[in-house]
Amino acid sequence: MATIEDVSGALGLLARTAHARAFGPGPLPPMALRQIVDAGRNAPSLFNTQPVRFVVVRDREKYERLRAGCNASRDTFMKLRGLFGALNPRLKQPQYEAGLQRQATGDVIPADGVAIVVLQDDAYPESSEACACALMAMALEATSCGLASQFTSWTRGLSFQKDLVALLGVPKGFKIFTSIIVGNPVEPLTARRKERRSLDDAVRWL
Ligand SMILES: Cc1cc2nc3c(=O)[nH]c(=O)nc-3n(C[C@H](O)[C@H](O)[C@H](O)COP(=O)(O)O)c2cc1C
Repeated sequence: MATIEDVSGALGLLARTAHARAFGPGPLPPMALRQIVDAGRNAPSLFNTQPVRFVVVRDREKYERLRAGCNASRDTFMKLRGLFGALNPRLKQPQYEAGLQRQATGDVIPADGVAIVVLQDDAYPESSEACACALMAMALEATSCGLASQFTSWTRGLSFQKDLVALLGVPKGFKIFTSIIVGNPVEPLTARRKERRSLDDAVRWL
């Protein structure tokens, strides 16, 4: 069987869509952002309800305010973590703990990116799957455009920061969801080698 390094199609794109921890400076290829949000716009949704909207933060000053807002939501979460941990014991699992510790200090989203903030329509509370489909479609399109990307869950916390809700122009009835940050890769996009559960472990063949 072909290994993940040499497959083409969606699996090959997926292999190169690793969570980028940094971005290179400079402008992005022309049309790349438009193509990426177009992938999000065309992603499937339940009964074609299209409950997802997008805000593209290119402006450097606004992007820096967004980064600061994400750090603030991380700081609030870390302060209240004992409480969240009591409600959700999963937060104490080693994998979660390691991930949170990695982001406990410093910037949770890197400099030099462009944020595509995903907005979820409150009228469709069952629309998280549609938001996730849009995120993944955009991540694959970013890879296809030669860009690095990462998802950030911390943008959800921006919904509680009035100044950022205003800055982003979030319409009434929408909440900020997980977002995708895209940017120039600092090294060539190559197939990810992070351990994954084996196919036999993940799949039940009937
Ligand atoms: C919906 C979603 C949200 C995520 N949010 C964050 C985040 O806020 N911070 C972070 O460091 N990683 C975040 N991740 C990245 C995962 O931690 C990462 O994808 C995982 O460690 C696997 O690494 P890889 O993508 O490089 O293979 C998120 C991933 C997904 C799918």
